[in-house]
Amino acid sequence: MKKYNFDKTIDRRVTYSFRWNVKDSELPLNIADMDFEVLPEIKEAIKKRSELDCYGYIDTPKEYFEAYVRWWKERHNLSLDRNWFLFSSSVVGSIDTVLKHLLKENDQVVMFTPIYNVFYNCIKNNGLVLKECELIYRDNEYKIDWDKFEKTILDKKTKAFIFCNPHNPVGRGFSLEEINRIINLCKKNNVYLISDEIHCDIDYNKSKYVSIFHSEYSTYKNIILLISPTKIFNIAGLQTSSLVIKDELLRQTVQNALYKEDIGEPNYFAVDPVVAAFTHGKQYVVELNEYLCENLEFLHKFFNKFLPNLKIIPIHYTYLLWIDISYYKLKSVEFASRLKNKTGLIVAPGKNYGENGDNFIRLNIATQRKNIEDACNRLFDFIKELEGEK
Ligand SMILES: Cc1ncc(COP(=O)(O)O)c(C=O)c1O
Repeated sequence: MKKYNFDKTIDRRVTYSFRWNVKDSELPLNIADMDFEVLPEIKEAIKKRSELDCYGYIDTPKEYFEAYVRWWKERHNLSLDRNWFLFSSSVVGSIDTVLKHLLKENDQVVMFTPIYNVFYNCIKNNGLVLKECELIYRDNEYKIDWDKFEKTILDKKTKAFIFCNPHNPVGRGFSLEEINRIINLCKKNNVYLISDEIHCDIDYNKSKYVSIFHSEYSTYKNIILLISPTKIFNIAGLQTSSLVIKDELLRQTVQNALYKEDIGEPNYFAVDPVVAAFTHGKQYVVELNEYLCENLEFLHKFFNKFLPNLKIIPIHYTYLLWIDISYYKLKSVEFASRLKNKTGLIVAPGKNYGENGDNFIRLNIATQRKNIEDACNRLFDFIKELEGEK
C-alpha cells in the first residue's frame, strides 16, 4: 500500500507558479519543478515556523547541516563532515558567486554541452570565456570526448570546470572511473571543479549515483560540491541549498564571497523544511521515483507505438526527458513553437541548452499521469500534422 498519492492534482496557478502562468488550455512541461504535493512534514514544519510570531533574520543552525550529513550517509553511503558545509540560497547563485570571486575576466570555463542553460549566463555575466566540450552523441547515448576534454582542461587559460552530475538535460550520471579521471585532469592544471549534483536523488530506484566526493581523489583542494533538496522534494521556491568544500581556506574564501553577494544567509523558511525533508522523506523519495519510473514507462510505450520517429534518450536520472526530433528536420525552437501553437503543449527547445541541443526537445515528466497522457495525445496530433506535410 502506497503512502503518497502523486496522482493528486494541485492547482499551481494559485501559487503564482512560474511554469503554470500560461493559458488555461496550455500544458507547460518545460521548467524543472514538479507538480506533486510536498511531503506533509514539510508543510507541518512551515506551519510551525509561521507560528513563532517573529520573522527576523536568522542564522543557519547545526541541525540543518546535520540533516544533510545523515541523508548523504544513509541514502548515498557518503560520509560528509558538517563543518565542510556552507549555506547558500541557490545553486545558480553559488556558481555565479564562485565564478565572480575566484576567477578573473577572460579566464576560461569548461562545460560538457548541451547543458542547463542558466550556466551560460553565469559565465557570460562575469566576463568569462566559455570553452565547450561537446558530449558525443552516438547510438542514443552521450559520452565524454576525452581528447577534447583533456585539451581544454589543460589549457593554461582554463580556471574552472562546471560539472553537472547527474546531467541536465541528457539525464545520465557519471561513473567513478569517469569522475576519477575528471578530478585528476582538473588537478593537473589547478582548475576549480564545481560539481552541481542537485538532481542526484531522482534515480528511478535503479542506479546508484556517484558523487564527486565518492572518489578517493576528492581530497583535491579545489572541489566545490553543490547540493540541495529542492528538486527531489519540490521546494525550489523556498530558495535553499548547500556548498560542500573540504579545503578550509577555499571554504572561507567562498563563505566571504557568499556573504558579499548576500546569498549566504537563509531566509526564515529555508531551514526547517529542509530538516523535515531529510528526516522524514525517505519513503516519499522511493515512491516518487517509482511514480516517475511509471511515467517514463508510459512514455516509452506510447512513443514506441504511436511516435516511433521521436527518439527518447534513455535517462537514468532527472525528471527531464531528452527527445531527439531530428527525423522531422525542424529546428527545436520552431518545433516547440509550432507544437505550442497547434496543441498548447509547452516543451523546452533543445537549443536553450546549446547549439548541439538543437535537434532535441526537453519534456518535464514530473507531473500527474493524466498530464503525461494528455501530453502524449497533444504530441501525437502535432506529429500527425507534421507527417501530413512530409
Ligand atoms: C543542474 C541545475 N542546477 C541548478 C538548478 C537551479 O537551482 P537553484 O534554483 O538552486 O538555483 C537547476 C534547475 O533546473 C538545474 O537543473
